[in-house]
Amino acid sequence: METLWFDAGHTHPIHEFESQGAFAVTLAEGAGRARVSVVRIEPGGVIGSHPAGVDQVFAVVEGSGWIAIEGERHELVEGRAGVIPRGSMHSKGSETGLTAVMVQADRLRTRPEEHPKRPPQETPIQVQTRAATRADAAAIAEIYTEGIEDGLATFETEPRTSADVEAWFEGPGPIVVAERDGRVVAWAAATPYRPDRAVYSSVAEFSVYVAREARGHGVGRATLDALVQASETAGLWKLVSRIFPENEASLALCRSAGFREVGLYRRHAKLRGEWRDCVIVERLLGEAAEP
Ligand SMILES: CC(C)(COP(=O)(O)OP(=O)(O)OC[C@H]1O[C@@H](n2cnc3c(N)ncnc32)[C@H](O)[C@@H]1OP(=O)(O)O)[C@@H](O)C(=O)NCCC(=O)NCCS
Repeated sequence: METLWFDAGHTHPIHEFESQGAFAVTLAEGAGRARVSVVRIEPGGVIGSHPAGVDQVFAVVEGSGWIAIEGERHELVEGRAGVIPRGSMHSKGSETGLTAVMVQADRLRTRPEEHPKRPPQETPIQVQTRAATRADAAAIAEIYTEGIEDGLATFETEPRTSADVEAWFEGPGPIVVAERDGRVVAWAAATPYRPDRAVYSSVAEFSVYVAREARGHGVGRATLDALVQASETAGLWKLVSRIFPENEASLALCRSAGFREVGLYRRHAKLRGEWRDCVIVERLLGEAAEP
């Protein structure tokens, strides 16, 4: 096993931001801009004001100190962590000295169990899922267009026609729909991830869209589960997608359906002139999902 020192002899002085009596050492760096460090601030030391480049959790493991963020000062003691969102102007200091573990990453979620979650639906909508056919193209296009108009789901901005969707059936799929009383209310589709690379032939991108009036009643989950099952049957070993961080419903659906958040693409593309980040999600299937 590797061991890492972070005692006083192994930390380095912080020179930026007119800091005084502050020391740090990086213990590990992860994918994207993820980093774990240990910070030591001597009595009377300070790390001067600067904007946080990424989200940050600053957990005091010894001593006490303060974080001033956007002009407001918060006292920290041993056993308490300050949470500094990306972009916030902040400074840190200590009168008595402190040691803190600092975690920095592109998108940190604190207390995931408290993240916005719809209360359990009193009226789940019962749906039947099945493989889609060309005859479903018009219904799929209509539901897709609603999602495009909402502006939270995709970089696409043009409405979709039946003809656009019919072309999807030339690909390997799978494509599934969910029906309520014989009417299509949702669809999910897998499309090749990198069709130009044979090595990725069993990896697919997926999309899932629920008609506006049927959202929030378990239909998305039923439809995505059906796609996962059909993809596994088709021999795919992974489904991936990208989700806008603001699309809480889609992130919640993916978490609930066993997807993992891999990381964040920053400024992945522009939607209506605005840069948008994307959360990357994946779920392993079949043999790839075995331990
Ligand atoms: C994203 C979408 C497919 C989710 O489908 P849905 O039928 O509304 O979701 P469900 O009712 O099946 O809920 C699935 C989970 O997400 C949670 N959820 C649903 N809507 C939510 C919301 N607005 N905020 C937070 N959580 C939400 C549910 O509580 C549920 O969690 P649980 O299984 O742990 O109880 C649907 O909202 C939609 O079509 N949106 C527009 C298109 C889109 O964004 N597609 C995804 C593109 S990547």
